[in-house]
Amino acid sequence: MDDKKIILSGIKPSGELTLGSYIGAIKNWVELSDEYECYYMLADMHAITVRQEPAELRRRTLEQLAQYIACGLDPEKNTIFIQSHVPAHAELGWVLSCYTMFGELSRMTQFKDKSAKNEENINAGLFTYPSLMAADILVYQADLVPVGDDQKQHVEICRDIAVRFNGIYGETFKLPEPFIPKAGARIMSLQEPQNKMSKSEQDSGGCICILDKPESILRAFKRAVTDSETEVRYDPKAKPGVSNLMQIYAVCAGKTFAEIEAEFSGKGYGDLKATVGEAVVETLRPIREEAARLLSDKAYLEQIYKNGAERAARAANRTVQKVYKKVGFVGK
Ligand code: TRP
Repeated sequence: MDDKKIILSGIKPSGELTLGSYIGAIKNWVELSDEYECYYMLADMHAITVRQEPAELRRRTLEQLAQYIACGLDPEKNTIFIQSHVPAHAELGWVLSCYTMFGELSRMTQFKDKSAKNEENINAGLFTYPSLMAADILVYQADLVPVGDDQKQHVEICRDIAVRFNGIYGETFKLPEPFIPKAGARIMSLQEPQNKMSKSEQDSGGCICILDKPESILRAFKRAVTDSETEVRYDPKAKPGVSNLMQIYAVCAGKTFAEIEAEFSGKGYGDLKATVGEAVVETLRPIREEAARLLSDKAYLEQIYKNGAERAARAANRTVQKVYKKVGFVGK
């Protein structure tokens, strides 16, 4: 058991979980729990780098936890926890910020994008976000970090920080690798299929959330942007909208692109959109119902996140103690 490789990942509860987070992340996590020792967190400390409404953040954090479990993530087999419940993240985060360079943080594309969008709140936390994320990963001595493409740069800077620290103090941190899932890695917006599906465009119909009602899912698919041809063919460059619908359908219905092309040969995009919409509704229905059931059982959720935090802290504290000693803090 001890020789299992360690996995850590997390999602910020700063918006609703989307179909993209289900297909691109959580669905894959479910399949890893037998082979790896897995830690999955709700990254609430990262969420406050952008201003949050407190009551909303609390609600979304619990909803996200319920959805993790409703998606099939077994709390017995995985350590599921809330980041702020494990002080080791903040403790190691501070130490690592002293081994992260101003220059390298300035080059992070996520910081550049977010500060451009958020000119009135370019705070220090937004800037040092990668040091905290490095702590999230290194504190568990993770081998693999399942992330989307957009987070690869954060795993790279995490490795750079680990190499720097190990270089000064000797072998302390394991070097993690990004772990990018093969299929369904990137679900695109239904309205702007050249961009990733993002929780920020919930109102435009470009984004589907796991907890959305069937009517609104069907409506969003009906309005999905396609192209001026008529042929259902997988070609993400020339036909990003249609290919995205095919990608979603492939995952939700368990079909190959060839099977989908055959199914829709001679039919129009209207049929495709309606069929994919139905498939998504049926995929999300049991998850939405189970999440609602779990959310009505606050005591159960509390037991999950308390156990999770305890288990996580046990592993994380070992690393913090080792690091504190190496940098020269007096032991307690
Ligand atoms: N930065 C990630 C995101 O925006 C969330 C995150 C925080 C994370 N800490 C992490 C992901 C550690 C993987 C590992 O989606």
